[in-house]
Amino acid sequence: MKSIFPDKGKDTEEIMDKIDEAREKDMNFSSGRIFGSMCTESPDLAKEVYSRFLESNLGNPGLYPGTSQLEEEVHEAVGSLIDAGDVESLSVGGGTEGNIIALWRARERSGRRKVLLPESAHFSFEKACSLLDMESEYIPLTDDFKMDIEVLKNKLEAEREEIAAVVGIAGTTELGAIDPIEQIGELSEDIYFHVDAAFGGFVIPFLEELDHDLPAFDFEVKGVDSLTLDPHKMGMAPIPLGLFYSREGEDISIDSPYLTGGGQKSIRGTRASASIPAFWAVMHHFGKEGYKNLISACMEKTYYLIDRMEEVGFEPIIEPNMNIASFRYEEPDEMVERLYEKGWNVSRTVHPKGLRFVVMPHVSFEGIDEIVEILSGMI
Ligand SMILES: Cc1ncc(COP(=O)(O)O)c(C=O)c1O
Repeated sequence: MKSIFPDKGKDTEEIMDKIDEAREKDMNFSSGRIFGSMCTESPDLAKEVYSRFLESNLGNPGLYPGTSQLEEEVHEAVGSLIDAGDVESLSVGGGTEGNIIALWRARERSGRRKVLLPESAHFSFEKACSLLDMESEYIPLTDDFKMDIEVLKNKLEAEREEIAAVVGIAGTTELGAIDPIEQIGELSEDIYFHVDAAFGGFVIPFLEELDHDLPAFDFEVKGVDSLTLDPHKMGMAPIPLGLFYSREGEDISIDSPYLTGGGQKSIRGTRASASIPAFWAVMHHFGKEGYKNLISACMEKTYYLIDRMEEVGFEPIIEPNMNIASFRYEEPDEMVERLYEKGWNVSRTVHPKGLRFVVMPHVSFEGIDEIVEILSGMI
């Protein structure tokens, strides 16, 4: 086979031309044209800090006590937003890894394999079940797109001995709906209960402080065993950074004798860790006040988007709880493709079919006007 690996080194200019060429093909948040992502552009400060920690590897933590210290401070500070007290915490790559660890812990604790999930659960649970040889069973949703608690209750009565875990979602991917976490917690006392707050975990605490009336979703609920939330979504951290919190139980960390620091606390071995100090900086840059302002501005734009979409004939699927707005539409796939060809990224919902907008901080009122104008010309 002919080798295409470069024979000799090239000069920097030539390399950077190619790099820029590739980068220009990518979409970017600053264009304001991305409505389909739960991530956003981090402040410049985060980019500066990130570049200083490129070699940090918390898979070998003894070499990086400074990064480890910042990691601990991040875990404690975010933990205090979700009533985590002194529960254990891990840095993860994002909601997917947090959900995998949760189901692993549930399987280890119970020796069982069945997982009960709302129909609105993120697809990462299917990955987790496949990796862990577990079996997913979906609980239907009520008219307001939350897990149907009566169906869950009956299921638990009939099959309690087989259930390894129950999962609730605080901020569903498609609609931002919040499952009845307190009621699920009461029903699942002796069963592992995991809350996927990958998106909502960094939104709900601030909305509560802004006097939005939202249900309890975190460790305040006694039955919650673990919770995952992602600073790389509304926390404005550079990717990848998720945080997984859990009450006592099976420990994913493993002895790593030929490395430093006394153990590896992750599914990953070597792990890029620059997003931890970068997020530490972002967290101190904004503080609670800054996040409240950011989220309040996102909510204002979400309501504006809904008003504008209603004007041109779209119906929101639910009243928004957070900065996600989805609208009924029978053929979202085709519309999403057509918008992409025009340089706009809008996402789709599957249950029910619709167009989905995540109103992140990079979204502007002008961007909303533009996309609504384009859409109204396409229907
Ligand atoms: C509710 C929920 N859970 C989990 C995930 C997976 O997160 P990640 O892609 O960061 O692993 C997402 C991503 O959108 C999500 O919305």
